[in-house]
Order: sequence, then C-alpha cells, then structure tokens
Amino acid sequence: MTLHNKVAVVTGGASGIGEAVTRIFVERGARVVVVDLQQEAGDTLVADLGDAVAFLRGDVSDRAVADRAVATAVERFGALDILVNNASASRVRPFTEQTDDDWKLALDTGLFATRNFMLAAYPELRKARGAVVNFASGAGIDGQPNQASYAAGKEAIRGLSRVVANEWAADQIRVNVVSPMAKTAGVAAWAEANPEQYALSAAKVPLGRFGDPREDVAPVIAFLASDDARYITGQTLMADGGAIKLR
Ligand SMILES: NC(=O)c1ccc[n+]([C@@H]2O[C@H](COP(=O)([O-])OP(=O)(O)OC[C@H]3O[C@@H](n4cnc5c(N)ncnc54)[C@H](O)[C@@H]3O)[C@@H](O)[C@H]2O)c1
Repeated sequence: MTLHNKVAVVTGGASGIGEAVTRIFVERGARVVVVDLQQEAGDTLVADLGDAVAFLRGDVSDRAVADRAVATAVERFGALDILVNNASASRVRPFTEQTDDDWKLALDTGLFATRNFMLAAYPELRKARGAVVNFASGAGIDGQPNQASYAAGKEAIRGLSRVVANEWAADQIRVNVVSPMAKTAGVAAWAEANPEQYALSAAKVPLGRFGDPREDVAPVIAFLASDDARYITGQTLMADGGAIKLR
C-alpha cells in the first residue's frame, strides 16, 4: 500500500512506535511533520530522512503546538492528509496513590492532545478527505492495575474517536484507533531488568512475543492511514499479537 504524496503529522514521532511510523510513512512516499520533545532524536531523523521530514520540537499538551504542526505541514508540504496521535506520557502507580499531577500528565498528553490536534487539523483534513489514527492501549481495554489515569485517558480517546468518526464521515474523513503491543526501547529495558515478568507477559500473547515497532505495528498504522482502508472508520484495530479480541 502506498502513501505516495500524502502529508502526515505524527506526534511523538521521534522515538518508539512513532519513529517506526515516521520511517515507514517516508518509505511509502509520505512527507511527515514530526512533533516531539526530543530534539536530538528529531535531528537524527531529519539527518536520516532529509527533506521528507520536518521536525517540530514541542509539547503536545500545548494547543499552540498543534496549530504550529498543521501550519508547518501546509507551509513545508502544501497540505495535511494524515494525523497520527501517537505521543503519550503517564506514571504507573496504584489508583489511590495517583496524584492530580499524574492525571493531568496522562490526560493532557493523551486525550486533550488528541482533541487539540484533531481540532487544529480539521480544516486541512476536510480539504484532503484525510485520515486520523489515534492510540489506545490494552491497559485501558483490559484494566491493567496501576494505570488508572492512562487507562481512563486511552478509553476516552476511543469514545472520542467513535463520535468524531460519525461526525466527520460526512467530510469523508476517517478516524480509527490502533491498540499496539510493541517492544520499544523502553519496554526492552524493562524486559532486561525484569526477565521473568517479561517472559510471563510475552507468554500471554497468542503469537508468543511483543511486537516489533517497525515490522509488526507501524504497518498497521500505515494501512489505516492509507486509501486501502478507505471503507474503515470508527474502529479499534488491535496490533497486539492476539492478546485482546474485541467484539
Ligand atoms: N509500546 C507498547 O507496547 C504500547 C502499548 C499500548 C499502547 N501504546 C501506545 O502507543 C503509543 C506509542 O507508544 P511508545 O511505546 O512508542 O511510547 P514511547 O514512550 O516509547 O514514545 C513516546 C514518544 O512520544 C514523545 N512524547 C512524550 N510526551 C510528549 C509530549 N508531551 N509532547 C511531545 N512528544 C511527547 C516521546 O518523546 C517519545 O518520542 C502511545 O500512545 C502509547 O500509549 C504503546
């Protein structure tokens, strides 16, 4: 499937799953505005991928950053066809110990950033009959302990996505959600520090492993963003080795 001549904004696109998305998008012919906090990782991407990537250092919690990302897409690449709301940050501890600041971090970088980027992108997405890919988590769908603020934000993103998929269908804008399971650098470090826990978690995945961000997860996002998925909207697609089966 091709993303030839498409222009995308990928939040959190400088490392982890977001970096894999940026790279596969460029390989498939897209140009990408990467929004991330990590300047060095952004510079590396630009050095590797050249003019196909514009890096914008910014915090997705800040609404002005969403506006700047859309303006950058239009100024540098002439349009905006695809929005990938991948960035997210959160803290892991029991519900009774989660602070207001923990909730603020999870919701500001997850739910509200997703809302702000969708609002900022809407005028361009409408012109392009574009696509949005938002991010959920098995932590929300399954209710994993110690992840209350993150899980609540992720499930709110699924509800928001279904509503907006219905509202924007009239504009032929598709809004879908991916729920990944990937061995990013962070997960790999955790696996190395907790090999038994990691083995237990991996054993629960029917396909027997955590996904590779580039080989297993990014292609699913590329598919949802592409015209091959033109008749799919309002869905959550699990890219998790079969760990959770949505009905
Ligand atoms: N890795 C998994 O197994 C897994 C499982 C379920 C859901 N997810 C979801 O997939 C997405 C990507 O996950 P990941 O594991 O690659 O995450 P990650 O933590 O490895 O990478 C997140 C990226 O977002 C950036 N970022 C964080 N806060 C930001 C902010 N405020 N402003 C701008 N950029 C910011 C980081 O710098 C980083 O580049 C997230 O939405 C996550 O919740 C991942």
